[in-house]
Amino acid sequence: MKMRNVAITAVGSYLPPRIMTNDELAGIVDTSDEWIVSHTGIGTRHIAEGETTSEMAIKATENLIKRFKIDPERIDGVIVATATGDYPGFPSTANLVSRHFKTKGGAFDLAAGCTGFIYALDVARSMILSGTLKNALVIGSEALSTVIDWEDRNTCVLFGDGAAAVLLEQAAAGGLAPALLRSEAMLAESLTIDPVSRHITMDGKAVYQFAVRAIGEIVTDVLKAGNLSISEIDWIVPHQANRRIISATSRRYEIPEELFYLNIERVANTSAASIPLALSEMEASGLLKEGRKILLVGFGAGLTYGGSLLTWQRS
Ligand code: UT7
Repeated sequence: MKMRNVAITAVGSYLPPRIMTNDELAGIVDTSDEWIVSHTGIGTRHIAEGETTSEMAIKATENLIKRFKIDPERIDGVIVATATGDYPGFPSTANLVSRHFKTKGGAFDLAAGCTGFIYALDVARSMILSGTLKNALVIGSEALSTVIDWEDRNTCVLFGDGAAAVLLEQAAAGGLAPALLRSEAMLAESLTIDPVSRHITMDGKAVYQFAVRAIGEIVTDVLKAGNLSISEIDWIVPHQANRRIISATSRRYEIPEELFYLNIERVANTSAASIPLALSEMEASGLLKEGRKILLVGFGAGLTYGGSLLTWQRS
């Protein structure tokens, strides 16, 4: 019988060991722990010291393989969502991951800013359902510290490095519903990696306002598409950009704030890695039980946004 569901059957993550505190940042730019915590909810972030995006992606995958006893020989496709690939054009970071694990299926990177993981999940899901891929490793990995302007207090306090991976496979039930993927490209220049300086530039206020609306809209529309009410959702896993964005969304759209799983305090904004990092942590702490309904919501550069409903089901 042909299965019509695609589920996340394994997760893994990697955070570089170097932790940078807000107090350390206060020694580099004119800021303070008080300002950063009160304006963003961020306490610390991990910083890759010499490790590349592909190396972190490989370590996240090794963690997945170990935790879920996956035979790497059966991994088919590899999709890496990233804005900070090892090479600016090619080879893709996914090819470097594929080389390490000797995978043979399609391997490519996907660029959709902080929404990249949501986009990549849906691309992988569709490719598995169409028969193009048997299964796929979907990874979010970012070395954002390499594109931060360490003299710009408006941005350098916000970001961190890290990687997380999931394995997507056909399943008998549950798994991922088709995603909602959206673009608001009139605001494209409000969040960039400048092609000349190779630094992140951001109109913080514009992105903040967009983010609150984007999360609210996606939560509303994913619920509508699934014919669900908010009380049927166990967790919302948002892209982790700013705790205040979550609080504002919760107030404006009457979404209980305790539904949002947040780890921004410890890892800051890791762009495409943030949603799978949160999922990996949640799985490790037993929060993702069979049948749980999880609403994934991403937003970021592009500007892009999107989300999907995940019913946790591992087979
Ligand atoms: O992944 C998606 C991408 N990013 C986001 O989602 C970020 C969205 N935006 C935000 O989260 C917020 O807009 C920020 C956290 C970036 C900024 O917070 P804000 O409350 O909007 O601050 P602001 O930009 O209005 O700045 C207020 C003041 C300014 O000083 P003046 O002009 O009032 O004197 C800033 O220069 O805070 C100053 N400021 C800082 N002060 C201390 C900005 N950054 C800092 C800092 N430390 N790190």
